[in-house]
Amino acid sequence: MESLASAPPFWLRDNCPCPACRDPRNGQKLFQITELPAALTVDSVHDAHTPDGAAALEVVWAPDGHRSVYAETWLQDHLLGTTAASGDGRTEDDKELWDAPGLAGRLPEADWDAYLTDPAVRATALESVLRLGFVLLRNVPVRDRQVLDVARTFGYVRETNYGELFEVRVEADPNNLAFTGARITPHTDNPYRDPVPTLQLLHCLTNAAQGGDSGLVDGFHAAALLRAEAPEAYEILTRVPVPFAFADEHTELRAHRPLIGADRDGRIREIRFNNRSIGAVRLPVDLLDAFYAAYRRFGELLLRPELQLDFRLTPGDCLIFDNTRLLHARTAFAESGARHLQGAYADIDGLASTLAVLRRETM
Ligand code: OGA
Ligand code: ZN
Ligand code: ZN
Repeated sequence: MESLASAPPFWLRDNCPCPACRDPRNGQKLFQITELPAALTVDSVHDAHTPDGAAALEVVWAPDGHRSVYAETWLQDHLLGTTAASGDGRTEDDKELWDAPGLAGRLPEADWDAYLTDPAVRATALESVLRLGFVLLRNVPVRDRQVLDVARTFGYVRETNYGELFEVRVEADPNNLAFTGARITPHTDNPYRDPVPTLQLLHCLTNAAQGGDSGLVDGFHAAALLRAEAPEAYEILTRVPVPFAFADEHTELRAHRPLIGADRDGRIREIRFNNRSIGAVRLPVDLLDAFYAAYRRFGELLLRPELQLDFRLTPGDCLIFDNTRLLHARTAFAESGARHLQGAYADIDGLASTLAVLRRETM
């Protein structure tokens, strides 16, 4: 009862679970905030039970006499001050940050057939994407457009100007350095898009070229290191919006976002880092030097060997990773050799939804 005394009346009333306030068929709210009495107060509170018999408190409201029954467990879970800071699962607080030695011997991976047939394997794989930022599916059929079927096992393909999927192979007139044999240092994809694709898939069809090995870096871990080692640099990178841009004959995309996105409580929640598409930062001249010192420092940190997990994709591997957190890289490869990946974008809200429903069914 103590807790209810401190609960703001509008917050409490807005969360009334009664069938007059929420449609029992779908749980959606039936009233507008403007429809509540302006002089709303709690008239009295009584011990009660929810319709399914759980301990609850009943609030009688003034001036309208409305009654609301709140399960005690719901109040404990939701009243601020009684639980830890809330989060949506997307910030560093809800992740397991890693470096390469820390992942040795426990790469998150799953066999494609087991992933398809065993809900527990699927749940573990999807959970790895949320917690560690990636999963490596093995023995995925080496088939044209298969990457789209992989995306559809957990969500929806995000079509872009590159198409439903993009071909990562050497092209004669590449509109992106990814489509050459050049080394690509750790980066996130498409920072020039808003909203940015939150998931990326890379499915290996052929990798017979000399070189072309893969790397992943946990950008949240790197940003947390920067915060500890160079707080001023970290601060600048969370505050300065960077203009990212991409243009070719048919497309002109731009987005202004900081390299490190943090939430209101200062928790890291999004990395955008791509030297290929960073435009001319506009800042007062004296701040430009500070920005460049910070950008360089973060860039150096991202290249520390112990931060990068190195591996080689072989035909049938499909990597699924969080493009708002992990940076990916590849070594240069001989353009005479055969290397062909198919990539696609998708989104993490769909993946999280699929996992939540899977857990509902397996619990
Ligand atoms: C990309 C990319 C990596 C690779 O296409 O975005 O970074 O291994 N490719 O070719
Ligand atoms: Zn109600
Ligand atoms: Zn890329």
